[in-house]
Amino acid sequence: MKTGGGSDEAKRRAGERAAEAVEDGSVVGLGTGSTTAFAIEAIGRAIDDGLEVRGIPTSFQSRQLAIDCDIPLTSLDEVLRVDLAIDGADQVSEAGDLIKGGGAAQTREKLVAAAADRFVVVADPSKLSARLERSVPIEVVPDAHTVVAKRVRELEPAGEPTLREASQKDGPVVTDNGNLMLDCEFGSITDPETLATQLSNVPGVVEHGLFVGMADAVYVGTDDGLEVRR
Ligand code: 5RP
Repeated sequence: MKTGGGSDEAKRRAGERAAEAVEDGSVVGLGTGSTTAFAIEAIGRAIDDGLEVRGIPTSFQSRQLAIDCDIPLTSLDEVLRVDLAIDGADQVSEAGDLIKGGGAAQTREKLVAAAADRFVVVADPSKLSARLERSVPIEVVPDAHTVVAKRVRELEPAGEPTLREASQKDGPVVTDNGNLMLDCEFGSITDPETLATQLSNVPGVVEHGLFVGMADAVYVGTDDGLEVRR
């Protein structure tokens, strides 16, 4: 599992506090990554203690963990809406916008977050930044990765795309949806909303990792506390 840069204690605090917001009888979006894993495990323990919830996983990884934790699963086809989605982020700006997709799961993560009444992001301080400036993960249809890369270089501001490789031996990363990932460097992103629209408009882009104006709260765990940003 990808673990990001923060301490496990900080991630645990954020994940476990977010899990406390899960209400009995609710449908919960189960995000992907090492921080959300602490939330999923905490929800599993609460189920052992009598909590009744159904989870919607956002990736193969979160599905497996939810099964291991005995969390009953459902899907967006069955429930249409989600009460609370909990998910991590690769970067969180001061405005509360996110870069996601370090785990190549942003397509399902965005679907579930968008269907949720409330979207809570769990993070540690290493994820915080005044502006978004990490590379933006973009899931692309395999046949389109070269043309999408060309279009990304032609955007204003221009991006520099790199095809995500699992390893030299294993070749490119293939997403849960059978697609490829381009990681695109834009430098410091001054207008995430416009860039998000530009990327969505490129044919062959399945989904990009800019989550603009979607988070209702960001739980930032530290080694000795928790800050909630709204
Ligand atoms: C997966 C994601 C993850 O939420 C993000 O990469 C954060 O992961 P972690 O909590 O392990 O640092 O967007 O697509």
